[in-house]
Amino acid sequence: MTHQMQSRIVPANSEWIAEAGQMLRGGALVAFPTETVYGLGADATNGEAVARIFEAKGRPVFNPLIVHVLGLEQALIIGSLSALARRLTEAFWPGPLTLVASRTANTDISPLVSAGLPTVALRAPDHPVARELLAAAHRPLAAPSANRSGHVSATRAEHVAADIGGKAALILDGGSTMHGLESTVLSVIDDAPVLLRPGAITAEAIEDVIGGRLARREEAVGHLTSPGQLASHYAPNARLRLNAYDWQPDEAVLAFGPVAEKRAHAFINLSESGDLIEAAANLFAALRALDASGAASIAATPVPPTGLGEAINDRLRRAAAPRG
Ligand code: TXA
Ligand code: MG
Repeated sequence: MTHQMQSRIVPANSEWIAEAGQMLRGGALVAFPTETVYGLGADATNGEAVARIFEAKGRPVFNPLIVHVLGLEQALIIGSLSALARRLTEAFWPGPLTLVASRTANTDISPLVSAGLPTVALRAPDHPVARELLAAAHRPLAAPSANRSGHVSATRAEHVAADIGGKAALILDGGSTMHGLESTVLSVIDDAPVLLRPGAITAEAIEDVIGGRLARREEAVGHLTSPGQLASHYAPNARLRLNAYDWQPDEAVLAFGPVAEKRAHAFINLSESGDLIEAAANLFAALRALDASGAASIAATPVPPTGLGEAINDRLRRAAAPRG
């Protein structure tokens, strides 16, 4: 017998959806049905809520998440959509097509949603419960599939409960999802769209709309210029020094926990209290700010390798890796 807290499975009626919307606004996680699979949702503008998604999924790395919106109007505040991208939304939204676009300059979507990339994935789901929840929350919702990392996606509320246990404050039960297959993910950053993940909408259906053949991810690898289009990562210009206990006055410092501040080119503490959720929420903005300070080197103090610390350390190691 386990003593793990059980998530509360409730019927996806208007009362519970309104309640779930309030909970999301308060920073809680709510699992909900979409037409593809169940999603584990958080307010996409709340970095700590988004960090809790990664904690719940048990992912050792930060993969970028899809932002769910009601439609094009809301999407345009978040991502820059070309004329072609808009045509695709006219053809397939609401529905299981996710578009990866450049983030707008002033978007309030947490950088953690994009895993620090300059891009954002947008989708307008077609499920009535998902749509009512988006309206109730009054927020764009970041939501990966509501399964633990490495497990298959959940198509029923009971699967969500079995997989992520007490991590969601609420699971809205809307029955079995229709497609049972995730959304198709398409990069529309460049003029020629690239299929990043095959899914519920076929490549052929997309090709009918764009009037040409769609490049597949494998084909695009060699000539993509935008770092956001592949499972790439944010790499600072500055050299990053890991597990630093001390630093030079001309270095920028990325601290974690109760680190005594002394002279440095710039100094940011991810979480003075040593809270990994707070640290994850601050990570990408902090890296960018320290990089922008102009220091040639960033000294990062140790982050424990447990829980979300695993994903934080993974990102720091990648940012520190030599680049050609
Ligand atoms: O059907 C779906 O899409 C479900 C439901 C809940 O909406 N969601 C889902 O999310 O499958 P997730 O996190 O399991 O998968 C998101 C996919 C990943 O393959 C991720 O790499 C890609 O979208 N993605 C998200 N943002 C991206 C970005 N900025 N650049 C490239 N790929 C991105
Ligand atoms: Mg998934």
